[in-house]
Amino acid sequence: MQEVPVEKPQSIDLGPRRSVAFIGSECYPFVKTGGLGDVMSALPKSLAKLNMDVKVIIPRYKCIPQKFQEKMEYKGSFYMDLCADGKQYYVGIMEYQEDGVVYDFIDNDEFFSWGNPYTNLIDDIPKFCYFSKAALAALNYLNWTPDIVHCHDWQAALVPLYLRTSFKDTNVGRAGAVLTIHNLRFQGIYDRKTIQYWSDLPGYVFNKDCMTQNWLDANMLKGGITYCNKLTTVSNTYAGEIQTEEYGEGLEEHLRYHSSKILGIVNGIDTDIWNPATDKLLAAQYDSQSVIKNKKANKKALQESLGLEVDDHKIVIGLISRLTNQKGLDLVNDVIPSIMDEHTQVVVLGTGDAMYEDAFRYYENKYKGNFCAYIAYNENVAHNIYAGCDALLVPSRFEPCGLTQLISMRYGSIPIVRETGGLKDTVQPYNLFDNTGNGFTFDRYESGLLYDAINRAKTLYFENRKYWDEMVVRDMNKDVSWQQSAKQYKDMYVELTPKY
Ligand code: ADP
Ligand code: GLC
Repeated sequence: MQEVPVEKPQSIDLGPRRSVAFIGSECYPFVKTGGLGDVMSALPKSLAKLNMDVKVIIPRYKCIPQKFQEKMEYKGSFYMDLCADGKQYYVGIMEYQEDGVVYDFIDNDEFFSWGNPYTNLIDDIPKFCYFSKAALAALNYLNWTPDIVHCHDWQAALVPLYLRTSFKDTNVGRAGAVLTIHNLRFQGIYDRKTIQYWSDLPGYVFNKDCMTQNWLDANMLKGGITYCNKLTTVSNTYAGEIQTEEYGEGLEEHLRYHSSKILGIVNGIDTDIWNPATDKLLAAQYDSQSVIKNKKANKKALQESLGLEVDDHKIVIGLISRLTNQKGLDLVNDVIPSIMDEHTQVVVLGTGDAMYEDAFRYYENKYKGNFCAYIAYNENVAHNIYAGCDALLVPSRFEPCGLTQLISMRYGSIPIVRETGGLKDTVQPYNLFDNTGNGFTFDRYESGLLYDAINRAKTLYFENRKYWDEMVVRDMNKDVSWQQSAKQYKDMYVELTPKY
């Protein structure tokens, strides 16, 4: 019998195997208040596909839905020293596995019995001192020694300090420490005595080059920046911006001092969750071939469900955001009266500062049938807005990366953004002359410039739909996945642990 040549499957080089423990305060779908939750979910999954052992450690908050709580498996418990009170604190470990990632939830009713992950600094400082220490103690307890411990934002910023002090002679103390800044505005600054009491870190870290903020306060993020081996932030532009006075939030000098260890890696999105071709929440699914036809059905469904006039000819401009000073809402407030006309509808989804919530409610009343203020946090409505709107506003004052512009491109909605941080790195400005680009952009933080960008968008939408539609297709085909960036993270981990 003649032998049939068997074609060998091409092996893709995924690089050397490494292990990493992610430590942070939120992770979708368990708990999410913003983009940190998305990144803590999607990046580990992408790393697992790149020959990495990945563990994610987050608190077991009471607000984690019951359907996940039920599936968690008890992995053990122990008692741990925490602060100067000499008391032993309970640490329970509950485990859940999915998509090649192991999730460990730190269980302690005293700290995590609130509904929300964040309450106020008086409670959050002890809570996250406890969490950072308990996460490392749990790794030792489980005898799982990662090559890298990767902690996120101020809530886990004490991890590098604990690693090199209380844990330095333990197994986990051998790991490299990476700290990612998702938002420099939040630093965990509080009365020095309180932080010293709860963290029980040695007195020598409370000096001006490490934890000390001023004569009264300590700064947890500043301490983490000092002690980590590598400091990353979520876009290249933001990595540069945070070293300037305008964006440095008071830490610019400290960051410039540590600049040799700063690296900007742009975020991606989970393209399985954010996929209009399979998204069950939509009125009609679509891909880049069917978008022009099928997006209409989503627009109609959105207008109907939000009580807007159902009219395909109007441009629907969306905004999905935490309603805070970061997000450029003052500019939006300023321009609403000038952009609202018989051809325009605006949909805002968000919660936050009362003054923005009230302003948007006022506009809803003023422009009945054409303005919707959906004051809530609602994932399902967010999916429908991404799919049903024509354009999405992200005019942020500062934006470390921003995910809503990435999701909107994936859903064929054109982003209108300010050129800052990750918005600058991910949205190439539309160029009318050669018909290239992904969205409409403006540079200085001025309402006149946002107004102009929205008008440029409206002009193209109403006067040159062919070019608009081409941009929709171009945006849907743009790679906004984690693939490239996860590789960059992996390269960094390997560089930090060259021992194998
Ligand atoms: P940030 O982390 O600063 O809030 P990002 O753009 O990085 O901003 O991430 C925001 C994430 O939160 C996105 O996934 C967005 O869809 C989601 N989001 C923001 N506000 C809401 C809301 N009101 N309802 C549902 N999802 C929201
Ligand atoms: C922060 C930033 C946002 C970023 C997100 C995830 O919340 O505000 O720009 O996309 O973290 O990294």
